[in-house]
Amino acid sequence: MSTATGHALALHGVGKRYGGFTAVEGVDLAVGRGEFLTLLGPSGSGKTTLLMIIAGFVDPSAGHVLLDGNDITALPPEKRQFGMVFQGYALFPHMTVAENVAFPLRVRRMARADQAEKVRAALDLVQLSAFADRRPAQLSGGQQQRVALARALVFDPLLLLLDEPLSALDKKLRAELQEELKALHRRIGRTFVNVTHDQEEALSLSDRIAILNKGQVVQQGTPFELYEAPRTRFVADFLGTSNFLRGQAGPGGIVKVGDLALRVACPITAGRDVLLSLRPQKILLLSPDGAADNTVSGEVVSWSYAGAAFSLIVATEDLGPLRVVMPAWNASVAPSEGLVVRLGWSAEAAVVVEDDQLQPA
Ligand SMILES: Nc1ncnc2c1ncn2[C@@H]1O[C@H](COP(=O)(O)OP(=O)(O)OP(=O)(O)O)[C@@H](O)[C@H]1O
Ligand SMILES: [Mg+2]
Repeated sequence: MSTATGHALALHGVGKRYGGFTAVEGVDLAVGRGEFLTLLGPSGSGKTTLLMIIAGFVDPSAGHVLLDGNDITALPPEKRQFGMVFQGYALFPHMTVAENVAFPLRVRRMARADQAEKVRAALDLVQLSAFADRRPAQLSGGQQQRVALARALVFDPLLLLLDEPLSALDKKLRAELQEELKALHRRIGRTFVNVTHDQEEALSLSDRIAILNKGQVVQQGTPFELYEAPRTRFVADFLGTSNFLRGQAGPGGIVKVGDLALRVACPITAGRDVLLSLRPQKILLLSPDGAADNTVSGEVVSWSYAGAAFSLIVATEDLGPLRVVMPAWNASVAPSEGLVVRLGWSAEAAVVVEDDQLQPA
């Protein structure tokens, strides 16, 4: 279904300058038919600017935007037929839900009877048919966001562009709407481009993620690829949390960190300084006779409990403080400050990342 109805979007060398300031630079991006792509990055990294360039509201200073291979860079936004939910964009307060959703159709001068039918279908899609006559003030935040979604979908857009549509909602409601958004995407099979700075949202919703930093796409791939094989320290750090270990590569898949020789499975060049990223979830608490490719002892200096997991900081002599996350249901010991523990991880657990955030020594 999704491949039949979705459209393909491509950006070639897209940049945007405001005076001397570069907001977006050299962005190459391909979004496949029916794909759910997320632009993920910190505040100010250029996400909204890039989405506005795709929508046609911002003219790029360089590069091209292509839809199904056709250059649409110069096409005005109203001719692009893209649905958009803007960042923090409110509904018209004086209009009912149905009138809000009908707005894009009125602008397009669609016949009244057809409008009513389209509005009904769009409200069905976001499961708000029963609320058609209410005003936005009489709805919860999540319901308002769904009205905004219905309004973006009502005219059968070629592409749906979403700028942090869920960021104002509390955690539980956000998780619910994420599920709905995912189901909606599957149902209508359109190409979605979503913007967020919420890493969990990006991981759970997207077919692919493009990570932005300072106006540039620093890595793109499936959530799994980005999480398991971050290319840089920034990506490893921004998408999840990580321990970073600085060492020197030796022969035979060994990285020397202090006095410790760590076994790694990723390709390394002997003699080079390397930075390893090691996810806290991949470090296990070993029993006294437990074995692992890599082991180190340390002392728990702090810990916290978050329902599903314990999060520990373990001070080690050779590797400094290590962050460890262990599932609470499986915890072999109850953590406590001062507890001496043995940690272990497999050679596959750590990956080499490029150090793009060189810290002063
Ligand atoms: N019209 C403008 N004139 C000058 N600078 C701008 C303009 N619009 C955006 N910028 C700058 O471009 C950079 C990127 O802004 P953008 O809104 O794309 O960031 P963002 O990633 O969407 O951030 P956020 O997560 O806070 O929404 C920012 O430094 C911003 O100040
Ligand atoms: Mg923004």
